[in-house]
Amino acid sequence: MKLKIFTDYEKTSTALAEEIMELLSLKLNSNICLAAGDTPKGLFKVLRERATNTDTFSQCEFFGLDEWVGLGRKDKGSCKNLVYSELLEPLNISEERIHFFDALSENLEQECSKIDSLIDEKGGLDIVVLGIGMNGHVGFNEPGARLESGSHVIELDEVTKTVGQKYFSKKTKLSHGITLGLKQLLSSKHVFLLVCGKNKSPIVKRTLEEAISLEVPASNLRLNEDLTVYLDEAAATLLNN
Ligand code: PGA
Repeated sequence: MKLKIFTDYEKTSTALAEEIMELLSLKLNSNICLAAGDTPKGLFKVLRERATNTDTFSQCEFFGLDEWVGLGRKDKGSCKNLVYSELLEPLNISEERIHFFDALSENLEQECSKIDSLIDEKGGLDIVVLGIGMNGHVGFNEPGARLESGSHVIELDEVTKTVGQKYFSKKTKLSHGITLGLKQLLSSKHVFLLVCGKNKSPIVKRTLEEAISLEVPASNLRLNEDLTVYLDEAAATLLNN
């Protein structure tokens, strides 16, 4: 595992954007999965500013990490809405290269197998960028997640339901999520964990310094030898060194 700590959010986001662009220059047809949430907004901003559709992302395939069941692209606060508006639309990425779960589908199991097969067909994920939830989740791999899981539907942890309200302008019922599984995230060629802010420092410490445990799903990312953790100093406050 590599740990990279920067003074603030902007510098952390910029450094990660630069590393991603460097990887893309080495493999133009990369399969990328980018988390939604508040944390990656700074990263998306730098990518928007520095990348152009004609070169950086022209051959990439984009995979969605997760979605709130019952919400779609039009719903402000959904993962799809955020990644489309902050990155995919500004960069003019064509629909055929975007593969998100349809969390409005009546057959969510089919959605899971569709995405699992597509990732396999395309040769697996090359780059995954993840955040950490306050409870240690990655995507919607909640505490108690399983290492062998591919895409699946899950009843959300209470912490996720409560914290998740911050994405919505009015109280929204959140009960289930659809997500890529730890198996897919761990087998990505490059895994980046991006965490900023002091409120995440306790979970960062548990993720990086305590024994790997499925109670803190993010800690399992340490099983991927190519994990790189990007932190700002605030998120790193409680780390030993
Ligand atoms: P956040 O979400 O970036 O909005 O804090 C992280 C997560 O829940 O994975």
